[in-house]
Amino acid sequence: MCGIFAYTGKKGKNASGVLLKGLLSLEYRGYDSAGIYLPERGSVKTPGAVAELRKKIPKDFKGKSGIAHLRWATHGEPTEKNAHPHADCEGEVWVVHNGIIENFRELKEKLGQRGHKFKSDSDTEVIAHLVEEHLTTGIGFEKAALAALNDIRGTYGIALQYKKEPDRIIAARMGSPIVLGLGAGEHFIASDPSPILPHTRKVVFLEDGEVAVITPEKHRIFKLDATDVKRKATKIDWSAEEAQKGGYEHFMLKEIMEGPEVIENTLRGRLIPAKGLAKLGGLEGVTKQLEKIERIIIVACGTAYYAGLVGEYMLEEHAGIPVEVELGSEFRYRKPVVNERTAVLAISQSGETLDTLEAVREGKRRGALTLGIVNAVGSTIARETDAGVYNHAGPEIGVASTKAFISQLTALALLTLFLGRQRGMTAQEGKKIAKELQALPAKLAKLLERKEGIASLARKYSDSRDFLFLGRRYNLPVAFEGALKLKEVSYIHAEGCGAGEMKHGPIAMIDEKFPTMAIATKDSMYEKLISNIHEIKARKGHVIAVATEGDKEIAKLVDDVMYVPETLEMLSPILNVVPLQLFAYYFAKGKGLNVDRPRNLAKSVTVE
Ligand code: M6R
Repeated sequence: MCGIFAYTGKKGKNASGVLLKGLLSLEYRGYDSAGIYLPERGSVKTPGAVAELRKKIPKDFKGKSGIAHLRWATHGEPTEKNAHPHADCEGEVWVVHNGIIENFRELKEKLGQRGHKFKSDSDTEVIAHLVEEHLTTGIGFEKAALAALNDIRGTYGIALQYKKEPDRIIAARMGSPIVLGLGAGEHFIASDPSPILPHTRKVVFLEDGEVAVITPEKHRIFKLDATDVKRKATKIDWSAEEAQKGGYEHFMLKEIMEGPEVIENTLRGRLIPAKGLAKLGGLEGVTKQLEKIERIIIVACGTAYYAGLVGEYMLEEHAGIPVEVELGSEFRYRKPVVNERTAVLAISQSGETLDTLEAVREGKRRGALTLGIVNAVGSTIARETDAGVYNHAGPEIGVASTKAFISQLTALALLTLFLGRQRGMTAQEGKKIAKELQALPAKLAKLLERKEGIASLARKYSDSRDFLFLGRRYNLPVAFEGALKLKEVSYIHAEGCGAGEMKHGPIAMIDEKFPTMAIATKDSMYEKLISNIHEIKARKGHVIAVATEGDKEIAKLVDDVMYVPETLEMLSPILNVVPLQLFAYYFAKGKGLNVDRPRNLAKSVTVE
């Protein structure tokens, strides 16, 4: 977690202005505390996010270089004392850090014995003191920083600055992302490219175990053993404006409303409808290996995990491949049986989720072919997997994942078509799926026109404190996702349940104060869902149904209906989830909650 941003320039720009503006685009990474250090002026820190920091910064707080940070707390309370940047005893070495230093306790004890005085509870502070300790041997800042990096164990994206060499900033990466921005007479270090883009589109992504030194004119990359690394810059072509709200009150609503465009972007150039084929350029290099794959293990977390569960239904039913879906956080701890005929497929919006990344690495260690469905281009999972499919959903800023889920399901449908046609899916079936995929953007646009109706339903149920979400088959993961959306933005109790499982326990909760959202579209499980709805009504429970347009019968049975256009059962989650996303959005908004930045959550979970 956490966002870091650093700047060094020759002249002209005011470093604190650059850094504060940049931090705003990193706020989705953490907002427990914020801080900035300029060698020419010192540091300012505060609990809270950038707006709070801005209030505390004096008018004359200007300089040519500096480092800044947004924190998502791991070690130590989110107080000013624990806010980054952290310094050594003399206030000369300063550090901002994203990650966790696992051996900080033992290092702190040793440094304490050497007379170092610590001011915070943060694991990060040991880095500044370690550099200070190595500086006493006279080796200079760069070598002292390198020595300190070799002392620490854990995950980090770091930027370090030394008061006596204000032009120079040192970055390092181990498990947490770091990108360098290469401008004319100015250089940047950040957790992702968004704060860099207003200044330059030329970036270099650091790999794990690499260190970079930037000055206004130069950058240099080397490994922890000091050997040089040569890497070409990448040109980033998405705009910083894409990350703005585009007229909506919240990113979450904007991102839900982008759904039709997101499906189009995920499909673009990847369908050959006349032949019923999918063309996935990112998998071309591994086509032969894919033909030999006997099993797919999908690894993911949160919303991406639920997308994976839908993928399991798609791939098994239409491509005939055995699929298991594993939580990224569990996979590497349970000695999975994996071999070279297994593909481990990671699904991740950010491409930086540590649990998912480690699952990929575990799969690799065990000889699997590793694949990714990833949104963030150049992210760690995208780079470490053997091959993959980018979502092309654009940046997702709202902490609650919405458009990424739509895009993940679309990419999984493409993958199903791609693998299915390799393994006996008929051209006719392929054409049917391709045609319906092409029809989805218009269907979703039509559904989104009804958002005001969903807003008034959210108002109607605004006093409810618990919700049950029911679904079956393809729509069981949608029930899980609907419940996750509601709980993460509204902080109320919501649970997803297989409709067939209700009788084994959850039905005990039902009464007139415990409403149920039933995903009851016209598919192979429709009749069974209707029976479950009867069971709930018999216990005085209120039911809101997600139902297929034209289904008048269901309206007589349930209390409220959210209609969705008809589509193939395997694609129905792409439409059915949207009313649930909108319901969660309006429900939370009605409570006056910070929909885009729910408490205790961060967008990109780069800690275990
Ligand atoms: O970036 P990723 O897709 O790997 O993130 C996975 C989860 O952390 C993420 O989906 C999380 O559950 C969201 N808050 C859900 O809205």
